[in-house]
Formats: sequence, structure tokens, C-alpha cells
Amino acid sequence: MEPISRRHALILGGLGTVSIVAGGAGLFWTENTGFVPSAAQRFTEPMALRSVNGALQLKLTAAEGPAQIAGRHATALTYNGGLPGPTLIIRPGDRLKISVDNQLKQPTNLHVHGLHVSPDGNSDNVFVSIDPGSSFDYEYQLPPDHPPGVYWYHPHHHGLAATQVFGGLYGAIIVEDATPIPISRDRVLVISDITLDGSGTIPAASAMDRMVGREGKLMLVNGQVSPQLSARPGERERWRIINACAARYLRLRLDGQQLQLLGIDSGRFPQPQDVTEVVLAPGNRADLLVTGVAGTASFQTLPFDRGAAMGMMDGTRPSSTTVNLATFIVAGPPATPAAVPTQPQPRDLRNSTVDDRRELTFAMGMGASGMSMGSGGNMMGFTIDGKEFDPARIDTIVRGGTIEEWTLTNTSPMDHPVHLHVWPMQIVERAGAAVNSVLWQDVVNVPAMSSIRVRIAFDDFTGKTVYHCHILDHEDGGMMGIVNAA
Ligand code: C2O
Ligand code: CU
Ligand code: CU
Repeated sequence: MEPISRRHALILGGLGTVSIVAGGAGLFWTENTGFVPSAAQRFTEPMALRSVNGALQLKLTAAEGPAQIAGRHATALTYNGGLPGPTLIIRPGDRLKISVDNQLKQPTNLHVHGLHVSPDGNSDNVFVSIDPGSSFDYEYQLPPDHPPGVYWYHPHHHGLAATQVFGGLYGAIIVEDATPIPISRDRVLVISDITLDGSGTIPAASAMDRMVGREGKLMLVNGQVSPQLSARPGERERWRIINACAARYLRLRLDGQQLQLLGIDSGRFPQPQDVTEVVLAPGNRADLLVTGVAGTASFQTLPFDRGAAMGMMDGTRPSSTTVNLATFIVAGPPATPAAVPTQPQPRDLRNSTVDDRRELTFAMGMGASGMSMGSGGNMMGFTIDGKEFDPARIDTIVRGGTIEEWTLTNTSPMDHPVHLHVWPMQIVERAGAAVNSVLWQDVVNVPAMSSIRVRIAFDDFTGKTVYHCHILDHEDGGMMGIVNAA
């Protein structure tokens, strides 16, 4: 049994006593209604740590313990006691040093999602395992031309990634622009979901959760439920939005306000795009300009159809609820919006010579041995090219410095958001139709029973890393492969 579920059982065992002691006035958990968030709070952001003279050094302690969630006391997994962990603000060319101290009861490690850094040694190496009670010193050197944007960090221990991220282990990384964009305000919004029972503890995932990808009953923005943000009309803010959910897709809207999308992940568009909604698969980020229009707007996520697996009832489809994530109140004397920035022109591989082409097939089926379970106790096996993840096997060998075209095919009835470490992917074709804009992402959603074609430039680094489905239960279930850039 996992430590979390053991703790869960212990706390539930004592719940009767807690309810009696808490009585009426002091009550904050109730057994019947489950977790009760406090009333709407003012928007807050995680503590920010900024690099100085080209370096940022910090310690991240991963631990299970008390956390403030939705203004209440809960028991979750935290970095340095916070949920989310601290925001790391760095610049291209910086050296980032993170010492991870594992105070969890299970192994962990750290991944800097989206950063273009070496996958080797003590850099962004997902094959590192940090035992409970020990620590590991990571060191990441960003190239001087590293793309600015919003990134994030989270654990990546195969088999434990979903539980640890869902438990609360994540934080934002901002790589600043060389020339700052003129704005009134920069905000970080880490969106996550979590389930807490009446005692403020995360219940263990069910077999269905592992198959579909666990989605929490509570949606959080920087660890809060429906916080309130305010601005003046005309103020132009920059929202750095991270989908840190283990499996939930976000379809974000902020009706009544003016939205311009600078890009997704590290991929800036040639020009800011006027948008009314932004879809973020798990792991994706949005770099969004919000220009205030007088009034009160609901920042919400709407249902997104990411398919369903066999045996699911209609009412239990994933990512199918509408949730108010935050309230944006625009009032006061009008301000003059700053100019919309011009964007640097992105690289475009659509007319480049492709050195190699390959096809990767993402599938769900019965466990490898027929009717038996897949790895990790899954009802289903999750495979790429018919194989579940094996840390001892290299699935794909690429030559450093070359450009490849990968066709990602999904033969299953659910979407899979495919993520590659270190090197971003340019989407060039969707379901057979050419993409006629420059679109770079590091998580690319491959819809159910469909195909996506991407191009990748394997520049700057060599070494072994992974590609996988970013529905973390699917990754833990085996939908991950190893690429070696030699
Ligand atoms: Cu955000 Cu391999 O992960
Ligand atoms: Cu990643
Ligand atoms: Cu998947």
C-alpha cells in the first residue's frame, strides 16, 4: 500500500473524534460534504525566486504534510511547504541549481518541463531516482538563446508521476524576455486539480482513475478556489497559465475581456493572436495578454471532449464540467493600454529538408499478456508501438543536429497529449491537413483515432531522454519511450 493511502486510512479512522471536537463554530471539514473550501479569496501567487548575476540556486524539499489549500488546512505533497512550489524566474544563459531533498515516503526526482537543457548527468535527467531521506543536486545550464516563456517543474519518477503531481508537487518557471514586453502586470496562474476528502486528505486513485487519468473534484489556481483578481479598464496584463493537472484538459475562457495569445509552451506566434478561448492539454502553458474591459468576468474552464474508455458511463466522461476558476473584476479609472508587442519571428521547419521520418503509434489495450493487467496494476496496457515503457530499452535513436518528422498516430478512443523532453515540436499536419501557421509546442494533443505530424530539430544536446503521454496515469501505465540523441 502507498504511504498516502495508509495515511488516509489513519486520518479517516480518527474522523469521528475530530467532528465531535470541532462541533459547530470551529467546523471546517464535514464528513458528508467532503472538503469545504473557504469563501472567495484574493488572488495570490507563489513566492518568486529570481536569478542574480546569471545564477539561481535553491533547495526544494518535497514532503507530505500540512498545506494551505483553498484557504483550509489539508494534507498534501508540497515543495518547501507550498502548493504550488516557488516560482523560479530566470533568464537565457542562466545557470539554475536545484537541490532536491526527498522527505516523501517514496522515491522521487525532478523534471524541468519544456526547458531546452541537457538531459544528461545531473541536468534534466529523468532516470535519476532520489530515495526517501536523500537529496540530489541538479544543475541546468540554459543556452544564451534559450526561448523566453513559461515552463514548469514537477516530479518524473516512472510509476509515481501521477500520484506526486496530483498530490501537489509542481511549480512555475519563467524565462524572461531579453526586452521586457510593456504590460501593467505579470501574473502566474498555476491551474491544478485535486480531490480532498472530509478530513482534507487525498484519497487513493481507483483503477478507473488510472485508466482514464485522474481528475480532481477541486480546481485550484495557485492553490486557491475561485480567487478574485482585479484590474482597471485598459490595463494590459500578461497571464502565464500552466495546466499542471495530472490528466484534465482545460478549455479556458474569460468572456467580456480582450485576449491576445502570444504563444503556447515556448512557441511564440509570429503575431499575437486574438482569441476567445485557449485549450491546454495537461502540461501545456499559455502566454496570454489580457486587456481589461470594465465589468466582472468569470475565468472558467469549459468541457473538452477527450474521448472515453470502454466501460465509462456517459455522465462520467472526463474533463466534462464547467468550473469557475477565478473572478476578474475590472473597475476604476481607465488606463491606456500599452502597445501590443511585436514578436520575434520563429523558426519554421515546414520547408526544411527532413533527415529522417518515423511513425509512433499510441495505443490502449488489454495488458501485454491478453486478459491480464497492464503494468502498474492498470486495467489497460498503455503502449507506444506495442510496447510498454522499459527503462533498459532505447526505442528511438536520432542523430544530433538533424531534423526529423514524426507521425504520431493514436489508435485508441481517448486523446493522448504527447510530450517530448528537451526539443520542442513544430506541428505541420493535423488529421491529414497541413497547418498553415508556425506552431511550436512541447505537448501536442493527438486526438482519439487520429494522427498529427510534427517536425523536430535535434539541436544543441545529445543524450537519452523520453517522450510520453502527459496524462500522467498513462505515462505511469507504460505510455513512454526513450529517445537517444547520439
Ligand atoms: Cu511534464 Cu515528461 O513531463
Ligand atoms: Cu517534460
Ligand atoms: Cu494518454
